Amino acid sequence: MTSMLSRAVGTPVARLEGPAKVSGAARYAAEYPQDQLAYGWIVPSPVPRGRLDAVLTDPAAEDVLAVLWHGNAPRLRGSDDAELAVLQSERIAYRGQPLALVVATTLEAARRAAQVLQLEITAEDHDVALRTDHPDHYRPEKVNPDVPADTAEGDVEAALAAAPVTVDVTYTIPALHNNPMEPHATIARWDGDELVLYDSNQHPSGIAEAVGAVFGLTAERVHVITEHVGGGFGSKGTARPNAVLAALAASVIERPVQVALPRQAMFSVVGHRAPTVQRLRIGAGTDGTLTAIDHQTWTQTSRLYEFVESAAVVTRSMYPVPNLRTAHRVVPLDMPTPRWMRAPGEAPGMVALECALDELAAELNADPLDLRIRAADPAHAACLRAGADRFGWSGRDPRPRQRREGDWWIGTGVAGATYPATAMPSTARVRALDGGGYEVAIGAADLGTGARTVLAQIAADELGVPVEQIRIRIGDSTLPAASVAGGSSGSASWGWAVTGACRDLVASKRSEAVFDTTDLVEQQNEKNRHACGAHFAEVRVDAVTGEVRVSRLFGMYDAGRILNPRTARSQFLGAMIMGMGMALHEESVLDPAVGTWVNHDLAEYHIPTHADVEWIDAAWLDTPDHDLNPIGARGIGEIGIVGSPAAILNAVWHATGTRIRHLPARPDKLL
Ligand code: MOS
Repeated sequence: MTSMLSRAVGTPVARLEGPAKVSGAARYAAEYPQDQLAYGWIVPSPVPRGRLDAVLTDPAAEDVLAVLWHGNAPRLRGSDDAELAVLQSERIAYRGQPLALVVATTLEAARRAAQVLQLEITAEDHDVALRTDHPDHYRPEKVNPDVPADTAEGDVEAALAAAPVTVDVTYTIPALHNNPMEPHATIARWDGDELVLYDSNQHPSGIAEAVGAVFGLTAERVHVITEHVGGGFGSKGTARPNAVLAALAASVIERPVQVALPRQAMFSVVGHRAPTVQRLRIGAGTDGTLTAIDHQTWTQTSRLYEFVESAAVVTRSMYPVPNLRTAHRVVPLDMPTPRWMRAPGEAPGMVALECALDELAAELNADPLDLRIRAADPAHAACLRAGADRFGWSGRDPRPRQRREGDWWIGTGVAGATYPATAMPSTARVRALDGGGYEVAIGAADLGTGARTVLAQIAADELGVPVEQIRIRIGDSTLPAASVAGGSSGSASWGWAVTGACRDLVASKRSEAVFDTTDLVEQQNEKNRHACGAHFAEVRVDAVTGEVRVSRLFGMYDAGRILNPRTARSQFLGAMIMGMGMALHEESVLDPAVGTWVNHDLAEYHIPTHADVEWIDAAWLDTPDHDLNPIGARGIGEIGIVGSPAAILNAVWHATGTRIRHLPARPDKLL
């Protein structure tokens, strides 16, 4: 019914906030002018474990308003996230942990005073290296987001013993760090006993609740403003210490305080993708039928908070197999807490699964595409076939190290893609405006992906007006509460609430309607649906230097209805490029003696640049899924990083004959 009337949805509407962004008018969290604004600078722990005994301040330091540490900071209420209990304890849990906050009248004065602040620390022996034989490994109750750590179906050992063809391979992925263009930032101001936070995050109402709890406030007394966000990738999904530090300092000096993280702090206090060690054992018949999969993973968390990167969870749904076992083990280390990073679990898990499957195909002398099509469910197989046609797969010689042009070895690779289609409870309000048009209000966050644009398209079609007639209000915790901009669920969740409110408005003929999806989304999530896809890569590897160039990278997706082809394509390509980074460039390098990662800026933590991206494209089977939700969308934010690294690594093997089982595929590993 909706699609009959649809005019805006499905068309490439440009981002509504684009002109404001390119002209500099759009405001990010740290850019809101405040009277008497003061600046906080975090003093990070120089050791990974120990005790902070004292902080010696320089009474002559100019322009310094306060130096806060556990010896003088106001006591905070509890939180279920110990990382938000900033400046409350003498214990040091990781190198880089905020031990003090210097607050000054200028940013430069705060930074200068922080750099010369003297900390009296009792250092203790630290333990920072992940190993699979670590005695402290344990089986967690649950892994992210909230699913069992282990599963078992059938008899994996017997099936592997009986299988004529098996692989037993271990893949390791280093810690990876979220680096949105806009680092985390907060301005905090107390208006009486109400807290106002201009904060860069993915979930205004969630931040209001979490930060409020720390100060003993209900969420209604915390006003979080998040109008524009320069990316998040999961690192801004939950409240981070910068928000609490700013609010704490503002309460002490009774002035607004800004805490904007420098890039270096992005490598300690905002979370990261935990390193994983993953052992895959796969058994198959000689015809390529999969008979058994065993996926075991080892990972780490911090001493403060348990977060378990759920790398084996994707294997539970990817390929139907009669004998399947998945397991997660985690060890707490004197290291920062890992958190969400784009497709947490799925992205690293699919590296191991899809590369191991490629190794199996080689053992079988089979085409890795055919092997997958045989193993996959019909929707996934359709993506593999359609993608292969577009990419040009047929006629490929399955043998590695066969094609050389000049100094370059050339190869191609494929990998599947999947991401769960979920929706989360959200509420939207729609009002008819005097003088025409409508206002749509929902406390969602637009990370730069085009979320507000897509909501305007949805509302325009439901109300039967052009997009220009819709005024969108988002990014504010005082608006009707919306779910986190995460889990690739934003458009489905918020769009559902907006659709419901618009339909109620039209049906009731009133001037305002509010719609809450809480009861509805549970039904969708029970359907356990996924978006799926297929990634194809062509690489060339320099025979002299080992440099890998990705000549072509292509993604074919089935993600339900594509609401805006322009912003959707951008999401797919961005995630595929992030997948390229995971395969080839990104690596947080641990120095066990120093007790942290030593590369913490974008000069030393490498991400793909424009020059690394040669030919890249994404396409989709536009298959509205209205049985799932009225939006018909399954989510697109993360699937592009699921499988794309494996497609590149499989292409590297095809080019060179070298299996990279320890990411990333640096040149030195290919010589
Ligand atoms: Mo994404 S890691 O769900 O913000």
